[in-house]
Amino acid sequence: MVRDILLWPHPLLSQVAAPVDAVDASVQALIGDLFDTMYAAPGVGLAAPQLGVLRQVIVLDTRARQPESCPIAMVNPRLVALAGTTTYREGCLSIPGEAEEVERAERVSVEYLDELGQPQRLDCEGLLAIAVQHETDHLVGRVYLDHLSPLTRALIRQRMRRRKRERASARPAAPVGEAL
Ligand code: NI
Repeated sequence: MVRDILLWPHPLLSQVAAPVDAVDASVQALIGDLFDTMYAAPGVGLAAPQLGVLRQVIVLDTRARQPESCPIAMVNPRLVALAGTTTYREGCLSIPGEAEEVERAERVSVEYLDELGQPQRLDCEGLLAIAVQHETDHLVGRVYLDHLSPLTRALIRQRMRRRKRERASARPAAPVGEAL
């Protein structure tokens, strides 16, 4: 099910997400919602806190840039090794209309539970490595803007506040069909 994505700044986007005890049906349903919402947006990664759910669950799909990769859901992901440095112009589904160069590790190794609760380890690079770092940041209440200067962050905060106000005051679309 496609759900609403919280827009930054929002208090839930600054909170630390709790680890998942067991990958049960509710976690699998959350994973399904994350994929549905990410593809509808569209985006290459989404973290549960962006849906207002403070659990350590993320989904990724970087096939558009890395055809050899596949869609991945990660529960309780932990970065266990980082190497090199790279920069990439990142956006975020919670910060629409903005993108900035962010410096991150070039290669990462991540340990996580898959959607069946099985422990996995993935070594990755390129956009997938960047997306893993971006999404795991969301699980500790960080967005990519926290890697930038306070001035850049303040300017984007101003623009986002304005966008959120405009959205809130926009008239809802005219009902279609049998609205009474
Ligand atoms: Ni994001």
